[in-house]
Amino acid sequence: MPSTQPIGVFDSGVGGLTVVARILEQLPREDLIYFGDTARVPYGIRSPRVIREFSREIAAWLLENQVKAIVVACNTVSAVALPELRAICPVPVVGVVEAGARQAVEATRSGEVAVIGTASTVASRAYPHEVARLDSAVRTLSRACPLFVPMVEDGIVEGPVAEAVIRHYLGDIRQSRIDTLVLGCTHYPLLQEMMHQVLGPDLTIVDAAQGTARDLARVLAERDLATPNLESGRRRYVFSDRTEAFQALARRILPGFVGDMETLDVEAPAFRQALRLLGSLPHSEPGSPA
Ligand code: DGL
Repeated sequence: MPSTQPIGVFDSGVGGLTVVARILEQLPREDLIYFGDTARVPYGIRSPRVIREFSREIAAWLLENQVKAIVVACNTVSAVALPELRAICPVPVVGVVEAGARQAVEATRSGEVAVIGTASTVASRAYPHEVARLDSAVRTLSRACPLFVPMVEDGIVEGPVAEAVIRHYLGDIRQSRIDTLVLGCTHYPLLQEMMHQVLGPDLTIVDAAQGTARDLARVLAERDLATPNLESGRRRYVFSDRTEAFQALARRILPGFVGDMETLDVEAPAFRQALRLLGSLPHSEPGSPA
C-alpha cells in the first residue's frame, strides 16, 4: 500500500469534521477523503445491525477509493462496529472510543468519569468496557444525551436553551465525585464551552478527536504509511445528501471550509457494489489492534 494514498474518514454526518479538524492540525500533509452519511443520519437511534450494515458499505467505498487507513470518526459506529470493520478491512482502522477512554483514564484524579453519547453508543457499553480494560479501578457513568445532536445541528450551542439542556442532562455531575467528562459524540465538542460554563472549570472535558488524531499519526508511523509529501494534502468531502443546514454546520466545525462538497447517492447500485470488493481483498487479522 503506497504511503501517498489518502486517509479515509467517515461519520454518520458532518459531525465527524470535528475529528477531521484535529487530523488536519496534526497531519497537514496527508491527503484525506471524508464521507459523511448525511442522507441517513442520525445513526445514534438505529439498531446495531443497521449501523454495522451502513458502516460496511462506507468502508468498502473508501477502500475502493484506495485509502491506506480508515478513521471511524463516528462514536456510534466505533462503539458498535469497530471489531467487525477491523476484521474485514485490509488497512488499519482507527476508532474514537479507545482514544476517548484513554484520555479519560489519564485525566481522572477521583477515579470517576462520565461518558456521554448517543443512545446506541451508551447501550453498547463500549466506553465503560474500554475504561475498565485500561484501569479496572476507574468507575464510569454513561449517559445518553439525545437532544444534544439536534440542538447542535440547529446551531444552538450557547444561550439559555443550551444552558438548560446541559443542566437537564448533566447538572447532577457537579454534586458527584466525577471529575472527567468524555464527549462521546462527534457533535458535542461544539457544546464544550457552554458545558464548562454550566458545569464549572474544574471538570476536565475530554474531546476524543484529539487522541484519535494522535492514534492515527502513530499507526501511520508504525506501519510506514506516513506520506512523504511535503506540501499540504488534498481533501475531498463527500456527503450522501446536501442541504443548507449541513453546509452551515460544516462551516462552523471547520472554519475555512469552502463548501466544495461532492454528493454521492448511497442508494445507487455502484455504491452498494463496492461491498463486493471487501470479499475479494485479503483480510487483516480479526480483532487486530489499529
Ligand atoms: N456521529 C454520531 C456519533 O458520534 C452522532 C450523530 C448520529 O447520531 O448519527 O455518535
